[in-house]
Amino acid sequence: MRRGVIGSDVARALEIVRNGGLVGLPTETVYGLAADASQKEAVARVFTVKGRPNNHPLIVHVYSLDSARTWSSQWTHSAELLGSTYWPGPLSVIVQKSSVVLDEVTGGHQTVAVRVPGHELALELLQQFGGGLAAPSANKFGKVSPTTAQHVLDDLGDGVDYILDGGPCRVGVESTIVDCSLKVPMVLRPGGITSEAIESIVALDSIDSGLSRAPGMLLAHYAPLCEVVLVEKMPEAEGLVGDVESMKYRVLDASIDPFTFASAMYSLLRQCDLDGIQKLFVVQPEPIGIGLAIRDRLTKAAHGSKNQSR
Ligand code: TXA
Ligand code: MG
Repeated sequence: MRRGVIGSDVARALEIVRNGGLVGLPTETVYGLAADASQKEAVARVFTVKGRPNNHPLIVHVYSLDSARTWSSQWTHSAELLGSTYWPGPLSVIVQKSSVVLDEVTGGHQTVAVRVPGHELALELLQQFGGGLAAPSANKFGKVSPTTAQHVLDDLGDGVDYILDGGPCRVGVESTIVDCSLKVPMVLRPGGITSEAIESIVALDSIDSGLSRAPGMLLAHYAPLCEVVLVEKMPEAEGLVGDVESMKYRVLDASIDPFTFASAMYSLLRQCDLDGIQKLFVVQPEPIGIGLAIRDRLTKAAHGSKNQSR
């Protein structure tokens, strides 16, 4: 293992991003793989390291609402209301991009996603940096997102130049993405800020199934190696566990305390793989509040785990 690749040295992280390098960025949701959003080659490297298709847009992380406005040619009233209410925090807004935003960041789209993350170390780095950091979650494309510095190192190894260790992520699921470029804003991905909380500030276009549909959000995503089976009640009650007596299985219950479950969810999925679990049953939470984000991610994990070769 490379020595000193994980640490809490903001000055070192700053120097790396300024020089076009990649930094593991702690946020309150998941760790990001951050590059200077104004350097083409650095942004291109993010896609290569992640193994992500080039047309899947990245979120630009900034220090403040003032800074966020500069990334858009048409900052909307809904973006202003939501940003001023929930930033710093687990919310990304989509707005028309300004001419300074690289096509490499938006995947050729005319809109850009921006957010102010609610994490002290990330904010310290962003304040000193002054610009925007384009950062997807710091995992290999389609796999389980990282919520600790060690997860980032396990997934990306040499691909990342330095990982700023901000401890385990508090929220544990990605930011809520709201398309504020539309006349009536729409939630494209449920996340750390609940749809109910968004709706208390701006009227939303119908809350649908709660499954994310931002570009690049495939049905199979967030997938561990083990098979994920979603159930509404404890599997014993549904007579399912008996079917799998000969395999290593595990049961997790997301319905009792969804907030605590969300913060641990990606670590728990990773642990199943480390423990050689073959089949994971998860009792789903109610489809409200943070439960919507959990159900979204688990539904995709279940698809991904069915579709990959073991
Ligand atoms: O919490 C988060 O949002 C984390 C942390 C690191 O900030 N980031 C994250 O990034 O989840 P990523 O790349 O794994 O997911 C961002 C999603 C993409 O799948 C993409 O669909 C959507 O954001 N997105 C980005 N720009 C967009 C745009 N212009 N229009 C629609 N969707 C966009
Ligand atoms: Mg991701």
